[in-house]
Amino acid sequence: MSVSAGAGRAEIKGETYSLPIIAIDPASGTRILSGSPELDRVLGGGFMRGSAILLGGEPGIGKSTLLLQVCAKLESKGRVLYISGEESPAQIRMRADRLGALKENLEVFCSSDLDRILSVFDAVRPVLTVIDSIQTVYSPDAGVVPGTANQIKYCTQEMTEWAKTHDSIIVFVAHVTKDGLIAGPKAAEHIVDAVLAFEQAEGDLRALRASKNRFGSTDELGLYRMGARGLDELSDPSGILLIQRSGELPPGVAVAIVHEGSRVLLVEIQALTVPAKAGITRVYSDRIDASRVARIAAVIEKQTGLRLSDQDLYVNVAGGVRLAEPGIDLALAAALYSARTGQPLPMGAALAGELSLAGEVRPVRQMGKRARAAKALGFSTVLGPAEAKYGDREDGDTKPEATRAGAKSATKPEWAQADSLKAAIRALWR
Ligand code: TYD
Ligand code: MG
Repeated sequence: MSVSAGAGRAEIKGETYSLPIIAIDPASGTRILSGSPELDRVLGGGFMRGSAILLGGEPGIGKSTLLLQVCAKLESKGRVLYISGEESPAQIRMRADRLGALKENLEVFCSSDLDRILSVFDAVRPVLTVIDSIQTVYSPDAGVVPGTANQIKYCTQEMTEWAKTHDSIIVFVAHVTKDGLIAGPKAAEHIVDAVLAFEQAEGDLRALRASKNRFGSTDELGLYRMGARGLDELSDPSGILLIQRSGELPPGVAVAIVHEGSRVLLVEIQALTVPAKAGITRVYSDRIDASRVARIAAVIEKQTGLRLSDQDLYVNVAGGVRLAEPGIDLALAAALYSARTGQPLPMGAALAGELSLAGEVRPVRQMGKRARAAKALGFSTVLGPAEAKYGDREDGDTKPEATRAGAKSATKPEWAQADSLKAAIRALWR
């Protein structure tokens, strides 16, 4: 006996027996590549069959563009449905022309009516459906007002149920405001398997992240650039967020070696300190969590005696990408220290390491990979935690064959090591 995930769920529903785990066909949980490697990585290796995904983002960020491109590039011969309650078929056709997203098996249906949408599902049996947007879908069974949390929850539930029982993939577009998900789509977050956010970084740069992912991690970062013909993948972004500078660095600037998901990025962190006016100090930082900035500032003050508690602290990340990884602590500390003292960091230095409250520089994962990426981009010094603590091991490595082999053959990068913030400061400004 072998049971597919979708069919299995449908069959089990009305029955009272469970299945022996060895009788379940693991191939039923197979993935379908979206045709966008960045999206596939954020999802954990492509779309999982029978899964529902919510893609949130501000209006105009590029959600429809991304998904129309995916509809045309999906690595499947099955039928694909693009359902829009916002645009007319002609508008969608024109956009598809511009994006080069025409494909025989891609079908368009413009409606907001849940019952009609479900009938089309039954007729088409799509392998992938895009609902653009969930806020426009409406059922009279869920109250009289469209767009309410109740409507969104009900309609998401109904469509997700269909997708799961038919082993189909469904992606819901959700418009959200700057403050994050608004009440309606928030209700849908619990129903779907993955919640993705599409954000604007700087200019035409777009960042894709998962805040929930039943089938993969949530720490992958997808990067795109919006161009004249849609979204381009940034498959090797390690250096794109760096600012090319000649001569001395300005004070307050430090380069962090960030490990996001499975990739390394070098990112410039910029800090500015100015005396606080009203006796109350504030942290202005929307790319790095403000409480982290405050914590690092406190560690600097305690460890070095450099006063930051009477300063307003401004922190920015070049390129505008949001950073949450622990390994940025050391670069953030160096940027703040440099901003306050007016002493620039030496050229060609890149930093990675976590800072404890006691002022120790703690090891972070993938130090070897980070150092190699920094070297490849021309950094002469990599400052990080003392090597003894992490040795040569590439922990958390998801691709042992490739990376380990590479690690052996590559020449080991030169390290400047520091086991404390004080030692790091001595190494940078000796
Ligand atoms: P869109 O995908 O419609 O955003 P959303 O669905 O998230 O509201 O994209 C909107 C913007 O993207 C629009 O202002 C025009 C721009 N754009 C491009 O720059 N290039 C393109 O090829 C396309 C299709 C859109
Ligand atoms: Mg749209």
